[in-house]
Amino acid sequence: MIKYYSVNGELVPKEEASLNVSDLAILRGYGMFDFFLVKKGQPLFFDDYLDRFERSAKLLNLEIPFSREALREQIMQVIRANGMQEAGLKLVLTGGYSGDGYAPAKPNLVIVQSPLPNYPSTKYTDGVKLMLHEYHRSLPTAKSINYIVGINLLPQMRAAGAEDVLFYFNEKIYETTRANFFIVKNDDTIVTAGEGILAGITRKKTLEIIPGNYRVEVRDLTLGELKTAREAFITSSTKNIMPVVLVDDITIGSGKPGKVTQHLMQLLEEKVQQYLAQPVG
Ligand SMILES: Cc1ncc(COP(=O)(O)O)c(C=O)c1O
Repeated sequence: MIKYYSVNGELVPKEEASLNVSDLAILRGYGMFDFFLVKKGQPLFFDDYLDRFERSAKLLNLEIPFSREALREQIMQVIRANGMQEAGLKLVLTGGYSGDGYAPAKPNLVIVQSPLPNYPSTKYTDGVKLMLHEYHRSLPTAKSINYIVGINLLPQMRAAGAEDVLFYFNEKIYETTRANFFIVKNDDTIVTAGEGILAGITRKKTLEIIPGNYRVEVRDLTLGELKTAREAFITSSTKNIMPVVLVDDITIGSGKPGKVTQHLMQLLEEKVQQYLAQPVG
């Protein structure tokens, strides 16, 4: 059971964790976050996520009100207080209590722990469907709290039986609302978008396990390439590598998760286990 969150460095019972309504996150949707998994009581790929959190803060011109060491300590304090070995952890940095309701002020920092989503195993054994939507996220390299387009499309996505929405713009495929997107070509080459996306940490770890196994191209990916792709998959912290077998009415390859995707799923799991076997430093 999750009992505690942290607000501006103070551990508080979750029912009492709050921010004032003058926060720019509420008034204007101005804020950012990061999200990672806690496994065996340890933040997984901790430094990668903290690096991205710092990068997002710079892009939003927000100053993190704590040192990296203090932030690490606050995160560990929340994990220890909740005593939950397997969980998700969100760091949220907001625009702060704005004097005029528009200009950012001193950011507020909130740390929220949550139970892990449990995806049915059929999503991995059968693969999932994505729904195409023409859109390109603004400030795509920052993990902002703005998910307005994706959330707004939830009814259509559910009606289409899709797991997620795949954003494309001017014929270029970028990413889904909450995951990065990869295809595998007929010759086993793996392709993923290089620019205009959030640099997912799961994408990063996937790119690390590819060399020595497959060829990889990190470059613009076009809509036309979907039709000839033999396999496709998405990557995210909660989903890991999830096979994609259908995009709108385009069947990917044989319509079943492919062997390259399945191999990468296994290699990624090994990478996670390797990380968890390291001494906590
Ligand atoms: C827009 C977007 N792209 C990609 C990702 C995947 O990133 P990660 O692998 O770090 O979870 C996310 C995660 O929420 C996201 O919001």
